This record gives sequence, structure tokens and C-alpha cells, in this order.
Amino acid sequence: MSKSKALLVSLIVAVALVASASFAMAKPIKIKFSHVVAENTPKGQMANKFKQLIDERLDGKVIVQVFPNSQLFGDNKVLEAMLLGDVHLAAPSLSKFKKYTKSLQIYDLPFLFTDMNAVERFQKGPEGQKLLTSIKSKGLIGLGYLHNGLKQLSASSPLRVPADAKNKKFRIMSSDVLAAQFEAVGAMPLKKPFSEVFTLLQTKAIDGQENTWSNIFSKKFFEVQPFITETNHGVLDYLVITSTEFWTGLPDDLRPRIKKALDEAIAFGNKVAAQKAIDDRQKIIDSRRTKVLELTAAERQLWVNAMKPVWKQFEDQIGKNYIDAAIKSN
Ligand code: LMR
Repeated sequence: MSKSKALLVSLIVAVALVASASFAMAKPIKIKFSHVVAENTPKGQMANKFKQLIDERLDGKVIVQVFPNSQLFGDNKVLEAMLLGDVHLAAPSLSKFKKYTKSLQIYDLPFLFTDMNAVERFQKGPEGQKLLTSIKSKGLIGLGYLHNGLKQLSASSPLRVPADAKNKKFRIMSSDVLAAQFEAVGAMPLKKPFSEVFTLLQTKAIDGQENTWSNIFSKKFFEVQPFITETNHGVLDYLVITSTEFWTGLPDDLRPRIKKALDEAIAFGNKVAAQKAIDDRQKIIDSRRTKVLELTAAERQLWVNAMKPVWKQFEDQIGKNYIDAAIKSN
């Protein structure tokens, strides 16, 4: 090869290398965020806010794709999919981590937290923060808590006292504590994915379910449940999670910026949650499709008495220190 030809070849090779390197640098990082609820919910709004902040701030270096309504994965599959790298962010209910840690079951104990401020105080304290990292050894990182709100009981017949729930079938999330809670009032709990709840209620395959005002409203459960008892008996909260592999593999300059956007989106989602607990409740009442039953103090106490023994049943699995700290946060 002549000298000039060799020079030309090395020039072409150099240009190709630079081009491919800059192409590789320009390739955006994709973050798939999968969730099971509608977009007009605290979690749906939080996910969309996160996407918006990333779009505004990261110049196309990171692209967020949000998949609502169990479009990509249901909550029973999403954690496995995350470990396989098929999805990068999710915010499953804290009731869905049984396979990964027993301590998070604390959030399902009936009548543990008096309101969402108590939940917030517990989560900001040392025990709540420790729970955030309780799934680390399983390859998952908790990046933050996100609120939805307190749960109510909906049913095909009026539930005023625990005996009204006897022998009725209730859909629950995949939590043994929630199963024990319904068994404590003589009801029959059935673990089913969120995506199936409406049809199960509509076809009367089950009698009732427990959920927050925003989930009951956005998934139209109130249209197929003639009664909702305002029990505020438990909390529905989420853990925003990613996989350790994905998170630690992010470029060091981008990770803090992504985390900041996520923290802001969570704060926004928490505000939406507080407002929706009020607004969606009112919309349900105004719809006149269902009757919202308020309990007297004496009636509510009967539910507390019937369900509270569940705490003792799970104390060893959860850890008494966590339960004590939660009680103190009230
Ligand atoms: C449920 O399954 O009832 C909830 O966890 C759904 C959700 O994510 O709010």
C-alpha cells in the first residue's frame, strides 16, 4: 500500500471511531416505569411528573416511558421483570413485597396508623428509613415512599359491624397480613391482581374489596359496589423501587439528577394523594351510584377489637421495634 493510501485508510478508521463513539454517547438511557393504576391517581400523576421533569432537564440524555394500568406488568410480575432488566422503575404497594422481606408487612397491620401524617412521621424516622433499604440484599433499591391514602371497605351489602362481613369474599393484595385481617372478622380473603378487581366485583364473583378513595374512583369500583364503609382501617402506600444493577450502572453525573427529579415527583404525588383522598371521596358520594356509610365511634371500635389481634400474630415476623415506632408516630 502506498504511503498516501495508508494515510487515507487510517484517517477513515479514525473518523469512523470518533463517529461511533459520539453515537454511543448520544444514545439515550431509557427508563421504563410500569404501574398498575390509572393516570388520574397519585401514582399515575407522580410517574407523569417524573417523565416531565426528566424531559425538561436532561436534554434527551434520559427518556422515561410510563406504562400505566398494568399495560406492561402487573404487580405480581413487576419485581421479577425488574431483576431481569425488563423494567427500571415501579412503585408497587408495600403490601406486595412479601417474597422479598417480612418487615414491610408492618404497613398492612389494621388500625396501626391513625392518619397519613403518622405514616409520614414513621417513614421519616430511623425505622421507616431502615425499611426503605430492607430489600437491598434481593437486588432491589427503595428510592422513596409514595402515599396513596387510607383504605375503605366496599361491598355488595352494608357493612356496619364486623359480623356483616362474615362469610363474604373480599379481594386482597398478595399479603398474608391482609388475609389474616379479613379472617379475623370471619370473611374469606382472595389474593387477586389489581387488574382483575373490577370484573370480579361486576360479575359478583366476590362480594367486596378494600382500597383508597382514589383507586375506588379511578377504577370505577363504586359503580359496581352499592356500599362503601368509611373505615380508614389501613394504609395504602408505595415503595418506589429500581434494581441495584440498573441504578449503580447509571452514569455518575446523571444519577443524582434523576434522583432529584424523582424526589420532586414523589413530593408532587404526595400532594395529589392528600387532595384526592378528599376530592375522589366527594365525587363518589356525588355520583349517587353507591352509599357511603360513616361509622359511629362504637361501631368502628368493634372493627378495631376484631382486627387488632392480627398485630400479635405477625409481631415476630415484622419486628416489635418497628411496631413500637409506628405506634409512637401516631
Ligand atoms: C391494589 O392492588 O389494590 C393496589 O395496590 C393498586 C395500587 O397500586 O394502588
